[in-house]
Amino acid sequence: MSDQKPYIEVKNLWYSYTDGTLALSDINMEIYDGEFIAFIGQNGSGKTTLSKCLNGLFKPTRGDVIVDGLNSKNTPIVQMVRRVGYVFQNPDHQLFNNNCWDEIAYGPRNIELPEDEVKERVEEAARVVGLDEAYFSEHPFFLSKGLRQRVAIASILALRPKVIIVDEPTTGQDARQSLEIMDFLKRLNEELGHTIIIITHDMPIVAKYARRVVVMGNGRILADGDTRDVFRMSDVLAQTFLEPPQITQLAQRCATLGFSPSTLTVEEMFEQFEKMNS
Ligand SMILES: Nc1ncnc2c1ncn2[C@@H]1O[C@H](COP(=O)(O)OP(=O)(O)O)[C@@H](O)[C@H]1O
Ligand SMILES: [Mg+2]
Repeated sequence: MSDQKPYIEVKNLWYSYTDGTLALSDINMEIYDGEFIAFIGQNGSGKTTLSKCLNGLFKPTRGDVIVDGLNSKNTPIVQMVRRVGYVFQNPDHQLFNNNCWDEIAYGPRNIELPEDEVKERVEEAARVVGLDEAYFSEHPFFLSKGLRQRVAIASILALRPKVIIVDEPTTGQDARQSLEIMDFLKRLNEELGHTIIIITHDMPIVAKYARRVVVMGNGRILADGDTRDVFRMSDVLAQTFLEPPQITQLAQRCATLGFSPSTLTVEEMFEQFEKMNS
């Protein structure tokens, strides 16, 4: 990765809210094309604030966020959101138009694309998220939570950002809906080449989908690395009251029996078990 140029560079980033709350302290990170990253950490650790700094919604109090060569400090927000999209934790905080069409068209219209291109982008985004055209004239608030989330994601996709940050995509969704949304994000990553960042408290989801994990605590990065390596740092995770997935903990306790302590999923545990017994 190191010979590739990072798409996002965060250098000595500090962020304080206007009431004086220090939310981010000296954050440094690089994000590359095609990554699938999870931001984890206790509530209040700074995950959402960092995400909003990455897409230019917030400007650094100190330090720099450079996206695609543009410093967020002196780049208009419309240029930033074309590169990094942020899907709010609660889609209802993001949806404000009277019908789904206008909702998805809002971004492209805001960057003053001609109306025929707006139409093309709305139709494409709806197709990608699997939103039937029958919903175009519906008011977003009358749709199910799952559909509202699709509309929220489509409205971000319509700007065709390279990086898509989704804040707690599976919170409040049942197991089937969670898998559906995660498989969709995986497809955006693998087939359409988007860099995906998820913010989540669901460690099995992190283990299954994210290749890199950034652990945040008290406005700082406590660890940043491959998912397998980070889930072996029990003391770092404990600092932020997180534990690796149960299956990883089980494998770690069975290490003397020959199981790999960086096992991430039940399938991987099962494969090792089969090998030992064959
Ligand atoms: N609008 C705000 N005004 C003042 N402080 C805030 C605001 N939003 C968040 N904070 C504070 O900033 C810190 C980081 O919050 P946040 O980024 O939302 O964390 P996370 O997403 O990890 O839960 C917390 O101390 C939180 O209370
Ligand atoms: Mg948050």
